Amino acid sequence: MAIERTLSIVKPNATARNLVGAIVKLLEEGGLRVVAMRMTRLSLAQARAFYEVHKARPFYGDLVEFMCSGPVVPMVLEGENAIQRNREIMGATDPGKAAPGTIRKLYGDDVQANAVHGSDAPETAASEIAFFFPRSETL
Ligand code: CMP
Repeated sequence: MAIERTLSIVKPNATARNLVGAIVKLLEEGGLRVVAMRMTRLSLAQARAFYEVHKARPFYGDLVEFMCSGPVVPMVLEGENAIQRNREIMGATDPGKAAPGTIRKLYGDDVQANAVHGSDAPETAASEIAFFFPRSETL
């Protein structure tokens, strides 16, 4: 299986609840390696740009506001089949529908405050990694 990289973001509801370590533990125990990570605050312009693909969706404005409401922890994860593996460890977007033991089931509050974001495909993984990390930090 191919070694891939993907982007994960610990969302503001999870940083507020002191869950960064618990989430990283689940990702690492799930077979993924953290190769870059930092804590930051998104500006409105950054959050709008990051979620540009959802611009037409009714939840876009609320989602952007939520992502700016507190610190976030973007990280680059590496491993075999990392994009799909991360999605399995995260669980379904809606915590109410996520499988037991997944990050969103354990730590998601609702569909918006669902604890983590994860890239959904190789193209988005590449662009989302580049959004947060200069190449020099992911060598
Ligand atoms: P995320 O992986 O960050 O990507 C887009 C986000 O939109 C998603 O997780 C959810 O947090 C958020 N969102 C808010 N409302 C909805 C909804 N009704 N359906 C899907 N995603 C939603």
